[in-house]
Amino acid sequence: MPLVRCTTVAELRAELAVMRRAGRRVALVPTMGALHEGHLRLVDAARRLADEVVVSVFVNPLQFGPREDLARYPRDLERDATLVHDRGASLLFAPTIAEMYPEGATTRVRPGPAAERWEGAVRPGHFEGVLTVVAKLFHLVGPEVAVFGRKDVQQAMLIRRMVADLDFPVEIAVVPTVREADGLALSSRNAYLSPAERTDALALSRGLRAARELWQAGERSAGRLRDAVAGVLASVDGLVPDYIAVVEPGQLAPVATTPAGTVIAIAARVGATRLLDNTILGEDDV
Ligand code: PAF
Repeated sequence: MPLVRCTTVAELRAELAVMRRAGRRVALVPTMGALHEGHLRLVDAARRLADEVVVSVFVNPLQFGPREDLARYPRDLERDATLVHDRGASLLFAPTIAEMYPEGATTRVRPGPAAERWEGAVRPGHFEGVLTVVAKLFHLVGPEVAVFGRKDVQQAMLIRRMVADLDFPVEIAVVPTVREADGLALSSRNAYLSPAERTDALALSRGLRAARELWQAGERSAGRLRDAVAGVLASVDGLVPDYIAVVEPGQLAPVATTPAGTVIAIAARVGATRLLDNTILGEDDV
């Protein structure tokens, strides 16, 4: 099947109307492009969950702070189109900024207090931007299911919260992080890393693995698991941690002890690049 490509809301609605008339179940995979295998696994998951997969590619200016990488964020729409087509997506929606935020558009979705910690504390306004664009995409596409990656664990949690709080009729599926063979979590921002920085960046997954191993050996103190991660990160000169969060999965509030399901989330700067990673204790490997 050819990939249908839309850049305007009108084209998108017309194409979706055809799918709806045919009784097709629609999945949405929202992305900012620069797609890698991690995104493509979201498309694979979406295909298993629905008849038609809509992928959006939109570098959303609302979620970037004034000193962040909006201008240099990697973009390659033709490559993205080929990749999602090869994985069986039916429709690629790649709107312009003016199409998504026409002159005078000022309404925003304000997240609750769980958006103020961790990523939200380091990147004020980031989650307001994410929730606003995701809410718009949900209204535009009206998917039965939307698929997100677990690497952005706080984003996934806040989207679930928004869907529950604002009664969006959509199921949220969250797919585990995809890693390189050496443990590095896939990210569009890995493209910024020099070879030496890429080596430094491996400390994130190594730190998480150290904490997991302690946990598997019976350690349940959040402080000691956090210290294990911090020790690994501190051993790398070129890496500056923003936070190491040991938190419960509902609101990502800090915990003292760590039952199965506890999330350890890290953000760290490697050179000029900010990287995220996390693990859920008792669930998966790093
Ligand atoms: O995870 C991302 O790539 C973005 O935050 C999202 C969900 C596509 C919203 O712009």
